[in-house]
Amino acid sequence: MTPNEFASIAALMPDPFRVLWREKVSSTNDELRELAVKGMAEGLVLVAEEQTAGRGRRGAAWYSPKGESLAFSILLRPVAAKSMWSRLSLTAGLAVAEAIEKYVPLAEIKWPNDVQIGGKKIAGILVEAGADFVIVGIGINVNSGNFPEGLAATSLKAETGNEVSRAEVLLEVVKRLARHSDRIDRDFPEMLEGVKERCALTGKRVALTYSEKRVEGFIQGVGPSGELLVEIAGKLERIFQADEIRVLSE
Ligand code: BTN
Repeated sequence: MTPNEFASIAALMPDPFRVLWREKVSSTNDELRELAVKGMAEGLVLVAEEQTAGRGRRGAAWYSPKGESLAFSILLRPVAAKSMWSRLSLTAGLAVAEAIEKYVPLAEIKWPNDVQIGGKKIAGILVEAGADFVIVGIGINVNSGNFPEGLAATSLKAETGNEVSRAEVLLEVVKRLARHSDRIDRDFPEMLEGVKERCALTGKRVALTYSEKRVEGFIQGVGPSGELLVEIAGKLERIFQADEIRVLSE
């Protein structure tokens, strides 16, 4: 993203969101955390052309090819009780999926918040909380190609056959997150409907690792608090956090 491309959306951002563009950072999540700790106001969206130490969930590295992908982090200061902040993970997944649906018919959410198209990952989200803030880090494969062998990944360009404006995608995500992030303590059940409609795991047999256990189960859907409902050995379990989920069969 060139500064010009980013300048084109500045006036269209919903209040209080605003973009800060950086050529190169270690990780947009880490850089934004530093600003948050110093008291930066809610709504700053830090976009980087290049990350030298982009991070994924569970300590994985996140590679975002320069000039092709979109890497950004959004600073929120939720008014809702802290016990509800984990809901922002699904909220961000829904915002990204809906934004992607401006370009392709259906984006799926692989619980809690990977976004996929036809089983291939197109976006990853890393939500991290501080004492009085939440950072929502988002990486989207916009115009990326040449994914490593064996990686089930895709991009908007691969799906549509056209280059897509990264600035426009960023704006679409921020507009939706601005709308949904206020809903975690109000109409969360309604918002969850959007997640359920797009849940890539419902009806699938999976192997999942959680609380240091590896189990196989059948995904029944998403529960009222956003938890994953899994039938394991004939018993319905509610999983709030999992390390890894692998689909075994359709
Ligand atoms: C995942 O799928 O494991 C999550 C990937 C999150 C990547 C984004 S890119 C912008 C932000 N900065 C980071 O270091 N990570 C997130």
